[in-house]
Amino acid sequence: MIKKCLFPVAGYGTRFLPATKSMPKEMLPVVNKPLVQYGVEEALDAGLHEIGFVTGRGKRAIADHFDVSYELEHQIAGTDKEKYLESIRAVISKGSFSYTRQSEMRGLGDAILSGRRLIGDEAFGVVLSDDLCVAADEGVLAQMVRLYKQFRCSIVAVQEVPEDQISKFGVIAGDPIKDGIYQVTNMVEKPEPKDAPSNLAIIGRYILTPDIFEIIENTPPGKNNEVQLTDALMTQAQNGCVLAYKFKGTRFDCGSVAGFVEATNFVYENIYNK
Ligand code: UTP
Repeated sequence: MIKKCLFPVAGYGTRFLPATKSMPKEMLPVVNKPLVQYGVEEALDAGLHEIGFVTGRGKRAIADHFDVSYELEHQIAGTDKEKYLESIRAVISKGSFSYTRQSEMRGLGDAILSGRRLIGDEAFGVVLSDDLCVAADEGVLAQMVRLYKQFRCSIVAVQEVPEDQISKFGVIAGDPIKDGIYQVTNMVEKPEPKDAPSNLAIIGRYILTPDIFEIIENTPPGKNNEVQLTDALMTQAQNGCVLAYKFKGTRFDCGSVAGFVEATNFVYENIYNK
């Protein structure tokens, strides 16, 4: 029912300079796979097979990664190295990949709006691949798709964060509907701890209904002079319904160096070596 997933990948990744000077942050490897591949695999596992990237200048390596490399295939075919290509071959055969560009870095809301033509008039997933999510059974996006089938409205994934971390996130306030599900009543982007409406922080997984596009168009730039998705979602929550979902699983902040190292250690010990 939800078929499409948008990946905003236009960011500069300044926190990883100089590594990201000529290489997209999303292509940095967590052990043996680029960060973005984990996100795409999560989307495919949730049944979202039409993958749309909102890219910017210097991101061509992402498009090359999700395409067949004939030279490499030819070189490796029939050798014992073929096993190293298995995961990316599976991704390429399951998904279809489209690209559009965000001409200026005007914020996440603007990046989503740039993806409008790839999505059209249907509900869709959004993955910020900086957030690497690991779940025991069902992936985080699959959990959210299941919830969408029940409630049919936009959903943001949230997790509890300590007070000294809260100003890095969009933060919600909400009325509990049932275990781990809240109807959003307030949302603030990167609040000071004293202004945070709760300790529930939004992480990089969303299901959005398509009316979000028109709302973003009418959302003025907010914090840091960027068009904030959080502001648009707040309008959507006031007009109808937005849910916050405390997902089952662990999220690593691979947009920061410390989180990236933590994810690398975790994947090496718990996934790669298993
Ligand atoms: P971040 O601000 O965390 O990513 O945006 P960044 O700018 O790449 O990283 P730093 O802060 O410079 O190190 C979160 C996500 O939103 C995307 C980014 O690519 C990232 O995946 N984004 C953000 C866009 O695509 N366009 C924007 O205008 C802003």
